[in-house]
Amino acid sequence: MGSVAKRFYVTTPIYYVNDAPHIGHAYTTVTADAVARWHRLLGDEVFFLTGTDEHGLKVARAAEANGLTPVEHADRFSARYREAWELLDISNDDFIRTTEPRHYEATQKLMQAAYEAGYIELRPYEGLYCVSCEAYYTEDDLLDGMQCPIHRRPVELLKEENYFFKLSEFTDRLLEWYQANPGAVTPESKRNEAVGLIRGGLRDISISRTSIKWGVPVPWDGDHVFYVWYDALINYATAIGYGRDDARFDAWWPAVHHLIGKDILRFHCVYWPALLMAAGIDPPARIAVHGYLLVGGEKMSKTAFNQISPAGLVPTFGVDGYRYHFLRDQAFGPDGEFSYEGMVSRYNADLANNLGNLLARVSTVVERKCAGIGPAPDPDSALRVFVESAYEQIADAWERIAPSEALEATWRLVRETNAALEAAEPWKAEPGPAVDAVLGDALEILRIVAVLASPALTRAAEEIWRRIGMDGSVLDQRLPAAAAWGGYPGGRKVERGNPLFPRLQG
Ligand code: ME8
Ligand code: MG
Repeated sequence: MGSVAKRFYVTTPIYYVNDAPHIGHAYTTVTADAVARWHRLLGDEVFFLTGTDEHGLKVARAAEANGLTPVEHADRFSARYREAWELLDISNDDFIRTTEPRHYEATQKLMQAAYEAGYIELRPYEGLYCVSCEAYYTEDDLLDGMQCPIHRRPVELLKEENYFFKLSEFTDRLLEWYQANPGAVTPESKRNEAVGLIRGGLRDISISRTSIKWGVPVPWDGDHVFYVWYDALINYATAIGYGRDDARFDAWWPAVHHLIGKDILRFHCVYWPALLMAAGIDPPARIAVHGYLLVGGEKMSKTAFNQISPAGLVPTFGVDGYRYHFLRDQAFGPDGEFSYEGMVSRYNADLANNLGNLLARVSTVVERKCAGIGPAPDPDSALRVFVESAYEQIADAWERIAPSEALEATWRLVRETNAALEAAEPWKAEPGPAVDAVLGDALEILRIVAVLASPALTRAAEEIWRRIGMDGSVLDQRLPAAAAWGGYPGGRKVERGNPLFPRLQG
């Protein structure tokens, strides 16, 4: 109350336009969206960024293979990401494309600052390059047959004169930064992995190319473009005004939360903080790293032909069913196996049975026993203490970017309330104060759950809110006040509608 709004800046990786959006990309994006929505409920000023990564050899080749210019290709594929995010109710505040003029400007300014500080220099280079990663590897990193460890495809020998970023000079500063900021990279296993990479010894890295033109030109040497990763990372700075609006940049940076998959840990947890230091900028406050969604035990990839698109699942599960599944079933951190059967059973158990049934039961009994008017909750209900302790756990879990835990705790409220109804059996009782008390409590839980589940269930939360007779929108509620017991006023018309989550056949 009366406190100054905090700023919460959250980002997803910017996705390559060589590929169509699949459930792996959507996993990071839906998680970032849910976290952004949670912070809006807290009253924070939120800036949520996603976008597309449009330069590099991989994109240039994909364009060529489709008979398109890189720009035409990028336009088409970038649009597919935007459409996928609209389909999934993603509430991003900005969508950055690395081909935009604002991004050229920011990239050139940030790199110029690192160059002038003496951290970038020209050197001959020959290396083993994975086009899919857009990264050089040393022989030690490779699998048998000179294959990239991530894509399991042969690397190529590239020779050129490149600008190098003197990463090796940042070993001590990076280790000090990790020491001083133990929570900067989560979970701890991923932080340890990053620290291990730094301790293992950092080599200077090539950051420019002369072999291709599809990139951001190096401002002090027009023969070179920046290697795709070294423009891509800077998107996070571009979007909040780096180089164009210092006041805006300073307001949002470095309090950023980067959400990424573990495939790009090295770039975000080692290279990016060092590059920022080189340019005289603080490293990001937080990098939250998650594992892979596996399909049949394998990482999804274009080459494995095992990609599943969100658009293939939404017609069956709905936007809410889609979002809920990935947030609830795929813990943020470890790898997780995606299975269609698992998705159906989660939907039926938590949405059709638990939440859907609670709403259906309550609205039916209110209609029959209370003339359709919802009674107020009991101020001293046994559920009150339960809600208070659940709220602490739920808020803590969202803060840690652990949506699966937050939703599990939220659904305990639903299950507890269903159990209380089953014990009281108000549908068998005569109308009167006892029936009113149990239904009032259940309506209050539905109100609270609508708020707490709204980061996941963008549509059903609003519908529950409306059906129990609340005014306005769930989006206008503010926590923690909206989760405090007693907010359901009673005396409201309760609507009995269609099943919120029709049961799916297994
Ligand atoms: O790496 N499971 O883009 P990208 C979970 N452009 N998450 C997955 C996944 C899976 N199977 N597959 C992809 C790039 N992801 C660069 C990023 S950022 C400055 C530049 C998600 O299109 C996950 O977030 O290959 C992963 O880190 C990202 O998509 C990689 O997307
Ligand atoms: Mg990738």
